[in-house]
Amino acid sequence: MILDVVILAAGQGTRMRSTLPKVLHRLAGKPMVCHVLDTARELEAQRLHVVVGHGAEQVREALSGYSLNFALQAEQKGTGHAVAQALDGLGDGKVLILYGDVPLIRRETLAALLAQVSETRMGLLSVTLDDPTGYGRIVRDANNEVVAIVEQKDASASELAIRECNTGIMAMTAAQLGRWLPQLSADNAQGEYYLTDVIAMAAAEGITIATAQPAEPQEVEGVNNRLQLARLERAYQARIADELMLQGVALYDPSRIDVRGRLRCGHDVEIDVGCVFEGDVELGEGVRIGAHCVIRDSRIGAGTVIEPHSVIDTTVVAGHGHIGPFARLRPGTRLAAGVKIGNFVETKNAELGEGSKINHLSYVGDARLGRDVNVGAGTITCNYDGANKHVTEIGDGAFIGSNTALVAPVSVGSGATIGAGSTISRDVPDGALGVSRARQLNKPDWVRPTRKNRD
Ligand code: UD1
Ligand code: CA
Repeated sequence: MILDVVILAAGQGTRMRSTLPKVLHRLAGKPMVCHVLDTARELEAQRLHVVVGHGAEQVREALSGYSLNFALQAEQKGTGHAVAQALDGLGDGKVLILYGDVPLIRRETLAALLAQVSETRMGLLSVTLDDPTGYGRIVRDANNEVVAIVEQKDASASELAIRECNTGIMAMTAAQLGRWLPQLSADNAQGEYYLTDVIAMAAAEGITIATAQPAEPQEVEGVNNRLQLARLERAYQARIADELMLQGVALYDPSRIDVRGRLRCGHDVEIDVGCVFEGDVELGEGVRIGAHCVIRDSRIGAGTVIEPHSVIDTTVVAGHGHIGPFARLRPGTRLAAGVKIGNFVETKNAELGEGSKINHLSYVGDARLGRDVNVGAGTITCNYDGANKHVTEIGDGAFIGSNTALVAPVSVGSGATIGAGSTISRDVPDGALGVSRARQLNKPDWVRPTRKNRD
């Protein structure tokens, strides 16, 4: 049977106290609703439907990268009314209903729920809570069969004592949903069309309501305010940290790592505290990351050591590099094996050959350096003339003295030497010395000026 997934995302989220629609608030760097969409995609759904209402335009725009059906719920008249807005676009297979503000639901849990669905059965995800306040209660008959869901505000005293709760997540056939939704009424305490009323309709038809439970309660927790969002962020990060450690990564403190995207690691990677990984990051075998590094969309080769407080973005480091502390590698940096980048060095769109070193206080941008180049402290590639960027090329084995300004476009030949303090604006041939500083003048027996008498 084909699968349609309907994600409700029309609610306002007043308690976030934000102009951003609730479902666009980020968890692990990604809007909550995108977590739900990505999980739904893993289920190989034929179509994803998002019901939008509050902030509809913003939500549509934020999700423009997905192939989706949007359904507009102009007025929020309840969860049943919300799902009904997507009804026309559904196929003739199964339908799974998810929520844009319940971000941590897992594929395995949903797959188990979907496995229950047939012409004669539907699936309901329930959770048993010590404090069920606010949730719809799951009512069972004498044979322990589910017969209805009663909302908190409509519940009798005995129903309020039930601790098995509705998570809101359910699955059924599109045919079942198509029969039931048009029959909903808003004749209840909240004057809303409750999706939960389909349960009693199913029971009345003799459809079995099979329940499934999440592996962990965070999976079905919704976010209404920033406290709950922060708690789920921690739960998510703890899940990632556990996975990393089980894959052989040493985390100095698993509660002090943040992964906002995908982090792939070889064996024996060590990560000190306070590091943030964003986008797609790959760390080769034995890589060591010092405290408080931020690494985004980069590949760090085996055996490389990144010292503390380094910021690395869209960079490739081959094996056995040594980076930092306090290095900033900006997009387009490509370092061959054994390169050393020291403190307060910034690189951008720069290629360095094997064994080259930039150890201190330099800016190297739009540059191609050969192998075994030594760049002295305080060297700057002057790559920008105010209008265009220009390239600096430095050959194998060149030695750039400290405090050199390389005014691009310019090239320094292999084995060339640049005298410290030079401003190099013309090409330097292979093996030559380029020096462009004023000649030093020494005046022997220099008498310092003395202070004049002031009355
Ligand atoms: C709902 C369930 C309740 C369950 C609880 C779990 C109903 C009637 N009740 O209650 O049994 O225990 O979730 O959290 O379904 N939404 C729309 N359009 C609407 C109304 C809601 O898109 O018109 C979306 C909201 O944005 C939210 C979700 O549906 O993401 C749930 O709505 P909410 O009003 O929070 O449901 P509850 O009253 O908590
Ligand atoms: Ca409500």
